[in-house]
Amino acid sequence: MERVVPTGGARYPWSTTMSETPDTAPSPSPAPPLRVAAIIGSTRRGRYGPTIAEWFTEVARARDDMETEVIDLAETTASEDGRLPAGEAARAFAEAGATLERADAFVVVTPEYNHSYPGGLKEFIDAHRTQWLAKPVAFVSYGGMSGGLRAVEHLRQVFAELHATTVRNVVSMHNPWTTFDAACPHARAAADQMLDQLGWWGSALRDARAVRPYEVA
Ligand SMILES: Cc1cc2nc3c(=O)[nH]c(=O)nc-3n(C[C@H](O)[C@H](O)[C@H](O)COP(=O)(O)O)c2cc1C
Repeated sequence: MERVVPTGGARYPWSTTMSETPDTAPSPSPAPPLRVAAIIGSTRRGRYGPTIAEWFTEVARARDDMETEVIDLAETTASEDGRLPAGEAARAFAEAGATLERADAFVVVTPEYNHSYPGGLKEFIDAHRTQWLAKPVAFVSYGGMSGGLRAVEHLRQVFAELHATTVRNVVSMHNPWTTFDAACPHARAAADQMLDQLGWWGSALRDARAVRPYEVA
């Protein structure tokens, strides 16, 4: 599969070559790392989500082009059995909103429930609006044979309504409870490829928002 190369350069015939650059030209300052918020979408007791999310955040945090924060929806939603008191959940929910606000890009880690994504994830997405605008969203999905892809396709529709753009590649794992291997180089390569795409969109849109704030009538 073709890999997106986030930096341009002499690879492309229309780009500036070194010899065209005056000696006196100041070297451009490196772009700050992209701020990525990874959202763990499952909240049920005994969930598998954290295993996948921990693996993914390790891959993301090994990169020097992004900084990754984690929002765990199990910490932002008060549970009826009192495991998580309402006050603590409210505090975590407010913090999650601030994390979304400062993020340049998102990764949603989602399982598939009945051919779609968890209801709690929908509630969380719907509870925010401006935080998603003109930012990219990537997905890590898991489930039975479909690897959570039906959940992802539904989420693409939701994020389109929120003026967010979703990246093409998905890291999808089917039956991970029997097949998942945190050391698998293919899974890591797939995650890096997806993060390359997220990085391209994330920095392009960050630059664009700085020049012209995205406004919704
Ligand atoms: C209510 C429910 C519905 C499910 N529906 C599907 C489904 O439609 N397709 C599928 O591939 N897996 C389905 N699964 C399997 C889940 O994707 C799998 O259990 C996964 O581990 C759930 O994520 P979690 O453990 O982080 O909650 C379902 C699981 C539950 C609990």
